[in-house]
Amino acid sequence: MTRADLAKAPHEVAAMFDGVASRYDLTNSVLSLRQDRSWRRAVVKALDLRPGEKVLDLAAGTGTSTEPFAALGARPVACDFSRGMLAVGARRRPDLSFVAGDATRLPFADASFDAVTISFGLRNVVEPQAALAEMLRVTRPGGRLVVCEFSHPTWAPFRTVYTEYLMRALPAIARRTASNPDAYVYLAESIRAWPDQAGLARWVQDAGWTGVAWKDLTGGIVALHRATRP
Ligand SMILES: C[S@@+](CC[C@H](N)C(=O)[O-])C[C@H]1O[C@@H](n2cnc3c(N)ncnc32)[C@H](O)[C@@H]1O
Repeated sequence: MTRADLAKAPHEVAAMFDGVASRYDLTNSVLSLRQDRSWRRAVVKALDLRPGEKVLDLAAGTGTSTEPFAALGARPVACDFSRGMLAVGARRRPDLSFVAGDATRLPFADASFDAVTISFGLRNVVEPQAALAEMLRVTRPGGRLVVCEFSHPTWAPFRTVYTEYLMRALPAIARRTASNPDAYVYLAESIRAWPDQAGLARWVQDAGWTGVAWKDLTGGIVALHRATRP
């Protein structure tokens, strides 16, 4: 399956996340067998934020991915285009800054952030390459990018088992825990259609970022891509 087969318009993606917002964090944690916490710790380490640095957390959803940056004394901005996800986040963490915006047309000035990051969001953006270019535009020269996204397990036998788990078990589990199980069928399909680690690295480089490198987490279930704005 290709990304085009998933054929969702941006407003359909936003509506889908509006529909899962109320139980998003619980379902996430259950489906990832609580691995999400260690993945989020890896993002914090890769970003290497200093107190006071301004960081954009794009596709931040309910702000769960944003919280650790505030805890470090950085100045995070959580941006997402699902008003439902933002509303849940703003209720839970009124101290964080939530901004409505589309990843492909960011409502921020050029070079306004020291670092930009996106966790489990780039795969959902209908034009991910356009989002990578927008992230470059709003990052200052020398600023950092960290993309945390589901990827392709590196050990072939495990990759097969994982794909079976995703395609068969995930929608069934989601039916018990999620408020909109169809969104999790989409999740499984979109993970299968996503480029592998080297493919995403090429996209990042083609968008104008330099020093692109990646690190596999949990055997490549997730990959962290890092880069710098020249
Ligand atoms: C799986 S959630 C990830 C939320 C959060 N970053 C986390 O790690 O828990 C993906 C988010 O991407 C957002 N999203 C998808 N396409 C977007 C776009 N074009 N612009 C802004 N947000 C987008 C969705 O609204 C959703 O909240």
